[in-house]
Amino acid sequence: MSKSIPHGGHLIDRTNLNLDLSTIEREVVLDLMALSDLTLIANGAYSPLEGFLTREDYTPVVENMRLANGLVWSIPITLPVSRLHAETLHVGERVRLSYNGTVYGVLDVEDIYEPDKTSEATHVYGTSDQAHPGVQKLFQRGEVYLGGPVTLVRKPEKAFPTVHQDPQETRQAFQSLGWQTVVGFQTRNPVHRAHEYIQKSAMEIVDGLLLHPLVGETKADDVPADIRMKSYDVLLEHYYPQNRVHLAVFPAAMRYAGPREAIFHALVRKNYGCTHFIVGRDHAGVGDYYGTYDAQRIFTSFTYEDLGITPLFFEHSFYCRACGNMASSKTCPHEASERLILSGTKVREMLRHGEAPPPEFSRPEVANVLIQGMEVKV
Ligand code: ADX
Repeated sequence: MSKSIPHGGHLIDRTNLNLDLSTIEREVVLDLMALSDLTLIANGAYSPLEGFLTREDYTPVVENMRLANGLVWSIPITLPVSRLHAETLHVGERVRLSYNGTVYGVLDVEDIYEPDKTSEATHVYGTSDQAHPGVQKLFQRGEVYLGGPVTLVRKPEKAFPTVHQDPQETRQAFQSLGWQTVVGFQTRNPVHRAHEYIQKSAMEIVDGLLLHPLVGETKADDVPADIRMKSYDVLLEHYYPQNRVHLAVFPAAMRYAGPREAIFHALVRKNYGCTHFIVGRDHAGVGDYYGTYDAQRIFTSFTYEDLGITPLFFEHSFYCRACGNMASSKTCPHEASERLILSGTKVREMLRHGEAPPPEFSRPEVANVLIQGMEVKV
């Protein structure tokens, strides 16, 4: 049995597929991020949240990374609507939550409040620059937030049904596998050699790896999830022991909030049953907004009791020609000229031109899948 206890003590379940909707008058239309948040609240991935944040929880989450009850929570999970729409809604009423004409849930409106988005951006993203994709998204969404408990009444179609597992299901899988310690790996990218190296370094000290790629909304120039999923399959088939890796998708939207998102990613993976969580270089970062190790440093603000999951930190890893293996500056004494380091932009450019990155950077099977995928998309 995995030693991991859900955040707040137990997994939240806010699903009722038989709820009677006939008497509910008003409807709120969700965007893709809110639909994903609704499902992740309902299936317990965001435990202890039972709904979208009311101001009582929102303010301390934004300012101090804590819910009103003191539990650590670093990303505000909010339901924005336009000011015009907010004026038609009332505290105390139940509203339908729909996406693309289908009702997926209900919200019991407990609070209607107008946030200070500049303050939210500065606290959560460390910048109010709208060139930051997370900040841009924050400002694009409605001006007023609705808070209160939600109930999921219909499960959205699963993008990757064979590897879609709710926290209850990953926990059961780890139990069947006999894993007591499980390290979670978040990624929004194909798995390259550096990712593989830090995963396998972690696998040396735990029972198993949860490869948990984020497949919700990402920015336009990230590699699409369907291509990435094929790349994970070939990688696992050829290079990982099958009984030590579990692949499941994490259907959340990417926020690009760097350090704050690293804490959030760790807490959520605890809810999926992980005891450990990998944080490498510039976790959940974008552009130059965060320092290379800011997402590791933020963990020093919390105790083990605060988080209930052990972060495993890794230095920037690379292939070193002189060492003849993968390494980091902790293990390799050689000069930069011996180290193979390619930026994400450079790799994407190579792939777009049908050029495979060197095998020391990316496994050839993975590079092939990515090149083929890019050809289809371009
Ligand atoms: S993320 O936005 O999902 O964090 P990415 O998929 O690139 O981006 O990274 C997944 C995990 O691997 C993160 O913990 C990140 O810090 C780590 N990582 C990515 N590249 C490297 C690298 N070269 N060396 C060490 N850690 C890395």
